[in-house]
Amino acid sequence: MDMSRRTVLSTAAAAGLTAAAAGTARASASPSSSRGRKPVKELFGRLADGTKVHRWSLENGTTRLKVLDYGGIVQSLEIPDRHGRYTNVSLGFDNVADYVAGSPYFGATIGRYGNRIAKGRFTLDGRTYQLSVNDGENTLHGGANGFDKRVWDVEPFTRGADVGLHMYYTSVDGEEGFPGTLKVQVTYTLNRHGEWRVDYLATTDRATVVNLTNHTYFNLAGEGSGSVYDHELTLAASRYTPTDAGLIPTGELARVAGTPFDFRRAKTIGRDLREGHPQQVTAKGYDHNWVLDKGITREPEHVATLRDPSSGRFLKIATDQPGLQFYSGNFLDGTLVGTSGRTYRQGDALALETQHFPDSPNRPSFPSTVLRPGQTYRTTTIHSFGAGR
Ligand code: BGC
Repeated sequence: MDMSRRTVLSTAAAAGLTAAAAGTARASASPSSSRGRKPVKELFGRLADGTKVHRWSLENGTTRLKVLDYGGIVQSLEIPDRHGRYTNVSLGFDNVADYVAGSPYFGATIGRYGNRIAKGRFTLDGRTYQLSVNDGENTLHGGANGFDKRVWDVEPFTRGADVGLHMYYTSVDGEEGFPGTLKVQVTYTLNRHGEWRVDYLATTDRATVVNLTNHTYFNLAGEGSGSVYDHELTLAASRYTPTDAGLIPTGELARVAGTPFDFRRAKTIGRDLREGHPQQVTAKGYDHNWVLDKGITREPEHVATLRDPSSGRFLKIATDQPGLQFYSGNFLDGTLVGTSGRTYRQGDALALETQHFPDSPNRPSFPSTVLRPGQTYRTTTIHSFGAGR
């Protein structure tokens, strides 16, 4: 794969940040018979300081998505099974307090840096930055108060048959220790086929590092229905990044061939989960970054398929990113009670996080996550749902 390419485009695209928003306003003003239904807003709850948290409901094709302005969280994602029966296939809570009290990033928008940065520290242009440390000695998912715990400005749109939300957040210089004021726009779009598209844009006024992703926990049989060990997963990746005991990549790109990490052909999550491979013992299951064979691409390409044989539901993921963190819900321990009142236990869901590799700011051999003034961070991931036999 081409390790030297970056996920950034130049200044011309930076202007697109505002142009896109303006275009949206125009599109939603023009009537059309095949227009998507306008997203609906309701009060979901309040933070301890009284700040209102809203929930937006979007529907298109056969997908129903509920999104909080707190953390850009996917609070519910309903899709039909092979008989047309809808269920919520994403883990979450039915109230704000539980999200605040200790959500393991259910459905959240992750930033400024998805996954771990070793010792919460990195050096850029000769200067060392100390970040907020929230996972042992490391920084996980942007630090103690990452983008998942911020209230985003949300602007709904309809654009022809598409419906969606633009979500805006400005992360100030020094927030959680990161340099530069980062202006972020995350757009969720549902098209009429029910595909959920996530577009990320960001610009900075000082050199920084960026790695944004979404942390939806999927269980295609329905949240709270038990484990995902029977789900079949395919990952278009011949290598993965082994980690040390703190789940920090060692720097090696190891071959999956002949190991439990080989998902190049559809395989159930449970099949090789108890193989005793040292990497699985360290992570308590799968919690690794797969190095996608396609590398960084200009357009999103299909990289993963998840299928639940019991319901027939499937999810296909396409991305332009170079990596994908497959996390098999190892730290769910029966202490959280989810949306439908059922307890979440180990392996009750999995996350497939499209991203740059963990700890890239300290690994010059990994694709770069540096963003500089004048550049635009731009990346897209598309989730396509369906149901078959
Ligand atoms: C990480 C896990 C972590 C989880 C948090 C995943 O992205 O890889 O190690 O425990 O997020 O819920």
